[in-house]
Amino acid sequence: MKSWPGIRSGTIHDAMNPETLEATLIELLGGDAKKVSRARDVMEQHSIDKWYAHHLPDIVVFAESTADVQAVMKFANEHEIPVTTRGGGVGYVGGAVPWKGGIVLSVRRMDEILEINPTDGVAVVQPGVILGDLQKAVRDQGWFYPPDPSSLKECTVGGTVATNAGGPRCLKYGVTRHYVLGLEVVLADGRVLRTGGRCHKNKTGFDLIGMFVGSEGLLGVVTEITVRIIPHPPARATFSVGFREFREAATAVQRIFAEGYLPSALEIADKFTLEAARNYPGNDFIPDGDAHLLVDLDGQESSVKSEVESLRGLLESLQPLSIDVAFGQDQCEQLWEIRRSFSYSLRDTGLKKLNEDIVVPRSRLMDLVHFGQQLQEETGYAVASFGHAGDGNIHVNIMVEERVLVEEKDKVDAALDRLFHQVLDWKGVITGEHGIGLAKKRWFSAATSDVSREVHSGLKAMLDPKGILNPGKFV
Ligand code: MLT
Ligand code: ZN
Repeated sequence: MKSWPGIRSGTIHDAMNPETLEATLIELLGGDAKKVSRARDVMEQHSIDKWYAHHLPDIVVFAESTADVQAVMKFANEHEIPVTTRGGGVGYVGGAVPWKGGIVLSVRRMDEILEINPTDGVAVVQPGVILGDLQKAVRDQGWFYPPDPSSLKECTVGGTVATNAGGPRCLKYGVTRHYVLGLEVVLADGRVLRTGGRCHKNKTGFDLIGMFVGSEGLLGVVTEITVRIIPHPPARATFSVGFREFREAATAVQRIFAEGYLPSALEIADKFTLEAARNYPGNDFIPDGDAHLLVDLDGQESSVKSEVESLRGLLESLQPLSIDVAFGQDQCEQLWEIRRSFSYSLRDTGLKKLNEDIVVPRSRLMDLVHFGQQLQEETGYAVASFGHAGDGNIHVNIMVEERVLVEEKDKVDAALDRLFHQVLDWKGVITGEHGIGLAKKRWFSAATSDVSREVHSGLKAMLDPKGILNPGKFV
């Protein structure tokens, strides 16, 4: 099996000819022709995400309601037509690529924030709402929805549910799963399941929400999401610390925990990543050095101030090259601009970024970076590492020229094999927040036991017996 699927075009689905498919779907969707498209540019936009796989659907449907989703699913199930659900289409693993053609079911138009209710501590949204818009709307009422993947201005809340998205703030606040209280899900046969609700605790039956969150579109189509919101911490501070070398920054990570701090985020970056960021237009706040740490603290103003003072003392004792501190959202966000740009600045190098979001036990941080350096020396491919040091979730990016993806495919595969097998040997995991999709399918077996895969297959067979939901992926 290939480690990345390469470029494919054309569809392999032929259960129904495209004209009939289009006419039938329009009829099922109330005669509204604007809810479907077979235009070449639309199909192409819906054939990719941020990974390198590409496969055209037969048709794109733009659902506007749960009833639309139900109609599509009933029909597709009856005719065994593949359905790949899509939100922002900005995933990193090919999860939203319609690998078997068929219908791309976009929920992007289902983009209403239905309710923000601070008294109950909940927000209810449709899946196509952009995550950043939800965060802003909640923030405007003094409340907080913490999950913060870097793509928050482009990704949908539905997409974050599909991947159980994380982000820097997960260190203190947890991942998407920790915020989802209720879901409405259209099942493969068109039935609607409502599970959970608006209560912050709920132990009624199995944790079906846990099963759907992170299921990458393989088990159902999420059409409504109720999330927990929490009071926004009134104060925030950010440290931006430049170190001579990665080892010093990694030591700082361990010291911060050892001294009893739980920052809201603790992010690290290596030399290659920093150099790419320095060359990226508009990045003004990049300190000197070959390693960088961002440390965020939040809470009540007086406690943040006192933590800043004591943490500054700790950081100074480690003799970094520089320490900058910002207070308040706007200033802190200025220091964070560099971090949020890493993905973009690495891509701006002109190299292709094979972004692996592995997680290692935190004690392995240095081992991981050494391993990356060794891999770089042995293969000649640059390795850029950055990410969520506090969680051990590091984005190890193998950076290669585009031609290498084709000409040296076996060598790249072998390098990735070595990385993933080493991570598994350390009791790490192959993905912390991006998912398996197509990109990591090759290592899914190595990362799971036979019994675990049997349980996955059993659940899939029960919820989607005809295998129409996002086929070609890891189950
Ligand atoms: C991030 O943390 O920035 C993303 O998860 C990974 C990436 O953008 O490469
Ligand atoms: Zn990340």
